[in-house]
Amino acid sequence: MKNILPAVLTLFSFMMISCGGGEKKEKFTYQTQKQKNTSNSNDNAKTIPVDMDNQGIGPIKDFTFEDSVNQELASIGEGVFKAKCTACHKPAQKFIGPPMKGIYERRNPTWVMNILLNPDEMLQKDPVAKALLEEYNGVLMINQNLTEDEARALAEYFRTIK
Ligand code: HEC
Repeated sequence: MKNILPAVLTLFSFMMISCGGGEKKEKFTYQTQKQKNTSNSNDNAKTIPVDMDNQGIGPIKDFTFEDSVNQELASIGEGVFKAKCTACHKPAQKFIGPPMKGIYERRNPTWVMNILLNPDEMLQKDPVAKALLEEYNGVLMINQNLTEDEARALAEYFRTIK
């Protein structure tokens, strides 16, 4: 976009000089086009579907949390996160991958467990995972060969991220 901007602007000044009547319309077209491009490159979050009923694909079925957070398990999860995930994820900010903060507002806990344990198949078949992959420029959420216990602890830790 940056490279063609001067050319587009030159074209406009030319059109403004040569045909005053058409100026307004062309300008409008350019602005809507520009807005469209900006939103496509910077704010794709909206294009990722939120489907709280989607449990994903993998070994976990109908997983739900206890009402209260298990702090001990969460701190084990934090340790796993620091060891295996921080190359690509920050707890509360977008990095190479998405932040984990607020994940249960956009994903079913079962889906989260399944993407941790079965990312390869999820990225091939699950509509949400596929959209994420596109948003993150094809960087794969790699299979870390987590045990189910590790995934469970991570899932608990995500509840505590503020
Ligand atoms: C090589 C970089 C990389 C590593 C290491 C990595 N991830 Fe990811 N992760 C990603 C990317 C990129 C995405 C989004 C695109 C995709 O799914 O491929 C993602 C997606 C996710 C999602 C879905 C997020 C959402 O908003 O729905 C979760 C949950 C997740 N990762 C957790 C983890 C955990 C926990 C670990 C450590 C065990 C981990 N990831 C390790 C790159 C990585």
